[in-house]
Amino acid sequence: MKITAAVVNHVNAPYQLETLELTALRQDEVRVRLVASGICHSDEAIRVGDEEYFFPAVLGHEGAGIVEEVGSAVNGVKAGDHVLMSYAYCGHCHPCRQGHPSHCQDWGMMNAGGFRADGSAIHLKPDGSKVSNMFFQSSFATYAHTAFNNLIVVDKSADLRLVAPLGCGLLTGSSTVFNGLKPQPGSTIAIFGTGAVGLAAMMAAKISGCRQIVAVDIHDSRLALARELGATDVINSAREDVAGTIASLTQGHGVNYAIDTTGVSAVMKSALDALAIGGTLVPVALTRHDLTFNPLRHLIASSKRIVGVLMGDAIPQVSVPQLIDWHQRGLFPFEKLVKFYDFADINQAREDSAKGVTIKPVLIIDKSYSV
Ligand SMILES: NC(=O)c1ccc[n+]([C@@H]2O[C@H](COP(=O)([O-])OP(=O)(O)OC[C@H]3O[C@@H](n4cnc5c(N)ncnc54)[C@H](O)[C@@H]3O)[C@@H](O)[C@H]2O)c1
Ligand SMILES: [Zn+2]
Ligand SMILES: [Zn+2]
Repeated sequence: MKITAAVVNHVNAPYQLETLELTALRQDEVRVRLVASGICHSDEAIRVGDEEYFFPAVLGHEGAGIVEEVGSAVNGVKAGDHVLMSYAYCGHCHPCRQGHPSHCQDWGMMNAGGFRADGSAIHLKPDGSKVSNMFFQSSFATYAHTAFNNLIVVDKSADLRLVAPLGCGLLTGSSTVFNGLKPQPGSTIAIFGTGAVGLAAMMAAKISGCRQIVAVDIHDSRLALARELGATDVINSAREDVAGTIASLTQGHGVNYAIDTTGVSAVMKSALDALAIGGTLVPVALTRHDLTFNPLRHLIASSKRIVGVLMGDAIPQVSVPQLIDWHQRGLFPFEKLVKFYDFADINQAREDSAKGVTIKPVLIIDKSYSV
């Protein structure tokens, strides 16, 4: 069938709305009619070539929509269900069975491989050439072919436009705290970069009972929002000395936990330096930059840890409903991060996010949708 998709034709190319062929639905796939999609920084990282990818590509991995057709081998979801899409996982390898689907042994192939396991493409150009997909959903499009494990069925009373971005950035930020760090109540945390991932981490730190939550960014507007959402202290690192300020805020001890969402080498290093003895750093950014440190001086001597956490180590079908529940109870007010754009304005939305004007752009793909 013919669909409209925002295609990136090569590294650094703008998104271009094109008509593509969505190849026949396989028996283990589900067709979703997109209502909305968030834009995550990872879409941008791929577009600008921070991560190697196959182009042309249809990006987008925070889709929300309505199930239209279900392959004959799929159980547990039906046409008409309202769904969010998160990442893909096999569900039957050892890490999946142990409850860590983001450790799935096929994670890279399924989410960043661009094609089905047999190498075929879900999307084709009119001339029959292959277009790659992202996260087995490619949500910057009017329709997606995805897999059952990508789906989170939500109540029809949930506004699909608002909850769309829960599938990646907000899930990652919050779950990095809940599952990756599991902070002790009364502990201290610093979050470097207060975009969507950082602010979600901050709200989760507050829910977890962290006593001191320090937010670091270079945009005053983002820091003002960070304060509104629960930061006890904010630091504009473009003007202030981060190390000195964190030391004085913590009586010279440093913080128990740090998360870096910037991917900037110097910022990742300052996050490591900001840790107290025995503290843990999680760097989450998709970045081409390295973090350089001396194992003895910067890690062993102070019993610090650096931990890799993908997608917050979350099971999306468990964590997303929990985020919706916290949102309904006013504990996870992520609507303050969201700004809506028409699908056709995807390049403007991307630019606003890169400039720091918009924290979480959400594209409205089906303008006729209402709750
Ligand atoms: N590990 C994962 O599973 C996973 C999942 C989703 C996103 N990500 C990655 O997380 C990162 C953050 O995503 P996001 O959507 O929140 O991005 P974002 O662009 O909205 O946020 C990044 C923030 O860092 C700030 N920043 C940039 N340079 C800085 C500096 N030198 N000092 C202080 N602050 C600085 C920006 O102002 C911005 O507020 C991205 O790299 C994204 O690709 C990782
Ligand atoms: Zn698996
Ligand atoms: Zn993402």
